[in-house]
Amino acid sequence: MSDKNRMIQKMEIPNSVLDFLVSRSAESSAPCYVYDISRIERNCRQFLEIPYENKSIHFATMANINPEFLGIVRRSGILAFVNSLEHLRKVMAAGYPGKDVVFTASAMDDDAMSFVREHDVRVYLDSPSQLARWRRLFPESPVGIRCNIGDKIEPKVTHAGVFLGHLSRLGFTLSEIEEVAGDPLVTALHLYAGTDIQDVDYFMECYRAMWDLARLFPKLDCLNLGGGFSVSDKESAPFRVDLYGERVTRLMEKQSQALGRDIQLMLEPGRIIGCDAGYFFCKITDVKVRRDCQFVGVNASSTQFPRPLLYPDSAFHPVALQRGSRILSGEGITSSVYGCSTYSRDFLARDVALPPAEIGDWIVLGEAGSYCASAHTRFLGFPPAEEIFV
Ligand SMILES: Cc1ncc(COP(=O)(O)O)c(C=O)c1O
Repeated sequence: MSDKNRMIQKMEIPNSVLDFLVSRSAESSAPCYVYDISRIERNCRQFLEIPYENKSIHFATMANINPEFLGIVRRSGILAFVNSLEHLRKVMAAGYPGKDVVFTASAMDDDAMSFVREHDVRVYLDSPSQLARWRRLFPESPVGIRCNIGDKIEPKVTHAGVFLGHLSRLGFTLSEIEEVAGDPLVTALHLYAGTDIQDVDYFMECYRAMWDLARLFPKLDCLNLGGGFSVSDKESAPFRVDLYGERVTRLMEKQSQALGRDIQLMLEPGRIIGCDAGYFFCKITDVKVRRDCQFVGVNASSTQFPRPLLYPDSAFHPVALQRGSRILSGEGITSSVYGCSTYSRDFLARDVALPPAEIGDWIVLGEAGSYCASAHTRFLGFPPAEEIFV
């Protein structure tokens, strides 16, 4: 068992979530996600407290598209960022007017461009040919472009891949940006540095590179600096949004002043908004021992809790057993939690430390509020797990 897996075992579950589960387990054994509303609200608040005045914070809905989740985020004062028409429709159904939504995508067709324009959604385009398409449809309409600043900084590989530099498929390259420099209809620039980034210095290095580009556009009024804020994996301290906020504020104020224009700051946090607020619960239906490993079978599938399926090498979630009202975690036997299909990769957790499990106990997986329920797949035939907010 890796040290990392041993360390991520310690799990704290809010009393509200535990009390709910204990009462629910008398009525239902179905797997479910439970979210702690107050943690989602707290996570939203941290971004709204960033001191820079002229800002808008847009929740990245790929992290969680549940309507109730969106409602909590919206009532907290956070706007929305989407990357598909389906999510655009869902955020509008949750009460967001188009003007509060940012759309950043790639390879949009005419219909997608027309739909977002019709609804007054702010758009960031991904390439020169996308910009040409936009111009053909809407010659007078201002727009933003996504920047690949890989030639200006040393790109970091973040855990879901490469987002900057020649290995990334996304955004205008430096020379492509220079070709449209001076365009008065390019009024916003967009950056996505990567995901799960803990290093604030790296964010600042990327942001400074964006400011160099900002000077190329005379009518620029907004810098969208994306998301990518890390969630603590118990090896590292939680990401300090307050310290990050002070630094990004200093940078934005200084550079806006030098430019002589007040530039809006946009951010698109995804993972950090819901991750530590969500738990996935499923019931143990089988236990078997193979050599020195305890295999724990549950009444759910990794298609319902898909991060281990999508990121087998990097998805770490704290795991615990719940027996009655007790949470059992920490030291124990090397264990793997497997789903109730015959797919050989159907694991919800691998090589983690768990106490001896009993059929009828519950498995609790933590840090399950982002990129979990929203990534459900129909492969293998399991329905989306119920999502409950307490
Ligand atoms: C353009 C863009 N912005 C924001 C996000 C959210 O990122 P994170 O969840 O790492 O904050 C994503 C995620 O893929 C993205 O592609």
